[in-house]
Amino acid sequence: MSTIVLLPGDGIGPEVVGAAARVLDAVAARFSIQITTASHPIGGVALRHGLPALPPATLDACRTAKAVLLGAVGDPSFDHLPSAERPEGGLLALRRGLGVYANLRPARLWPGCEGAGPLKPELSKNADLLIVRELTGGLYFAEPRGFAPDGLSAFNTMRYSTEEITRIARVAFDAARRRKKQVTSVDKANVLETSQLWRRVVTAVAADYPDVTLSHMYVDACAMALVTSPAKFDVILTENLFGDILSDEAAVIVGSIGLLPSASIGDGPGLFEPVHGSAPDIAGTDKANPIGAIASVAMLLEHAFGATDAAKTIERAVVRVLEAGHRTSDLAAGGTAVGCRRFADLVSAAVADA
Ligand code: IPM
Ligand code: MG
Repeated sequence: MSTIVLLPGDGIGPEVVGAAARVLDAVAARFSIQITTASHPIGGVALRHGLPALPPATLDACRTAKAVLLGAVGDPSFDHLPSAERPEGGLLALRRGLGVYANLRPARLWPGCEGAGPLKPELSKNADLLIVRELTGGLYFAEPRGFAPDGLSAFNTMRYSTEEITRIARVAFDAARRRKKQVTSVDKANVLETSQLWRRVVTAVAADYPDVTLSHMYVDACAMALVTSPAKFDVILTENLFGDILSDEAAVIVGSIGLLPSASIGDGPGLFEPVHGSAPDIAGTDKANPIGAIASVAMLLEHAFGATDAAKTIERAVVRVLEAGHRTSDLAAGGTAVGCRRFADLVSAAVADA
């Protein structure tokens, strides 16, 4: 019996994790995968209970789990706290604590969602890309950081080691081998030393992958190309902050940030979470799109269990429900929308014969 830790978190997190957990149950039953789930607090929910944003018991449970499924963290009522104590600080401590240095963020158009976003359908229709984002280094974590004693200036450190760049580059090249064999490494090497090192190390790693084509791009040019010619990308390899920004931009290609899943992988249990945030404005209204969380369950089954059939079944079930015309409000373009709960029930039902 494998334990999946559920971390619903804040805002719409509990709704999308509840939805995704029901789909997980349906697919586990169909494929006889023996799992049990256990929920733990993280983020603003933990703070409200007088606990730190990442309670030690939550981290312990995650470390011994087979995999972790997280909803979202973020709660504006804690914006006054220092960064490390905020809900987001809890998520960053969890990523670091699990050592999940490789964040995989695929973005592909779901059938029937052409034209859902602002891009012309002919631009987005063949888009199928994977952002490989370094997740435990760079500006997010390096020291020193802080405010000057007078509070009038502040500083962060961008730092990368050869070892950190090498291991994330290998993840990107390995992924490219299973796809269209193209890696675009994204940096700001015309300005930043960390990017110059990044470029040099990625180029050296590429020598081990003669079957994969490597190109380099500056992050500003990439930000533009992502929305002007998204279909030309296969794997985008980039550092932590650039990957954070570019992955939100990728949501524009597919039509809604509610559609994007992610997997964060290291040497221990993986952390699976939709790319979207806690969306406090719609929390508790059953309006959230659960597809990002449901597709994160597919990634969890693939990566933690090697259960490719189960993962593909989830994807086919989502496609069926979309093809039947069901849409959550982010994709309904003012038409009739189904709620988060109902959408997940439809997907769970479709799992039986998808
Ligand atoms: C993401 C989020 C997080 C990040 C926040 C919530 C800390 O934006 O997963 O993309 O910046 O990594
Ligand atoms: Mg982000």
